[in-house]
Amino acid sequence: MKRYLITGASRGIGRAIAEKLAGKDVELLLHGRDTVALAQTRKVVEPQCTKVTPLIHDLATARGVSDLIAEVGRPPIDLLVNNAGIAVVKPFTEITSVEWEQTVGVNVTAPFLLTQRFTPRMPPGSSVVNILSVAAKTAFPNWSAYCMSKFALEGFSRCVREELRDRKVRVINVYPAATDTEIWSQVEGKWPRDRMMSATQVADAVAFALARPTDTLIENIALSSLTGKL
Ligand SMILES: NC(=O)c1ccc[n+]([C@@H]2O[C@H](COP(=O)([O-])OP(=O)(O)OC[C@H]3O[C@@H](n4cnc5c(N)ncnc54)[C@H](OP(=O)(O)O)[C@@H]3O)[C@@H](O)[C@H]2O)c1
Repeated sequence: MKRYLITGASRGIGRAIAEKLAGKDVELLLHGRDTVALAQTRKVVEPQCTKVTPLIHDLATARGVSDLIAEVGRPPIDLLVNNAGIAVVKPFTEITSVEWEQTVGVNVTAPFLLTQRFTPRMPPGSSVVNILSVAAKTAFPNWSAYCMSKFALEGFSRCVREELRDRKVRVINVYPAATDTEIWSQVEGKWPRDRMMSATQVADAVAFALARPTDTLIENIALSSLTGKL
């Protein structure tokens, strides 16, 4: 049985990835904080999976990350999807130190710790998927904390990719443009949801990359809607 760990699987892109990867002989380890939302994901995928394990932890704290690692336990995992993320969007002069630290914690430190802990025991043919963003490549006004975190995770994961190559563990970086999820509900302003991609489109691309032969690495996937930039 394969074990797949997806962070931030309670909604949005993480939930869509869980739905795509659900299958026979798969244990889905689904992480989130919102127990109700995570239960909804579980309900959808459970009929297709051998086992679904919900993991409720706050990844903004070191304790939350270490508790998650402990709960996943000793059996190796075959896939780590670093998806959980937050977006603090405001002028850099207004970002509080708490918001900055939470952004670093969830978007950078948690993926670092999970990758460091799990990849040494992953078998050849396993994969790490990092859900980055177009904001890992491009600067946007008011998105400094978010861009900082995605640029940082990109630098880290590109180096890790080279370190894991000999062990046949693939690191796949995904760079979605605006995607219609709840993350936008907390961002001030009116955003044209109808011009965004769907979470399912992102999940489709992830599933495609993972389905390539294990000696084929799709290193980077940049995704945007044909409707153009917002
Ligand atoms: N939507 C976009 O336009 C877009 C574009 C490019 C990249 N991305 C990236 O895609 C990833 C998923 O985002 P989304 O759009 O699907 O957003 P979303 O619907 O807001 O989902 C975010 C997920 O992250 C989890 N999360 C947030 N803070 C957390 C914390 N402190 N501890 C643990 N989990 C936490 C949430 O869990 P709970 O709900 O259970 O708290 C939720 O499952 C993020 O990394 C985001 O940066 C999104």
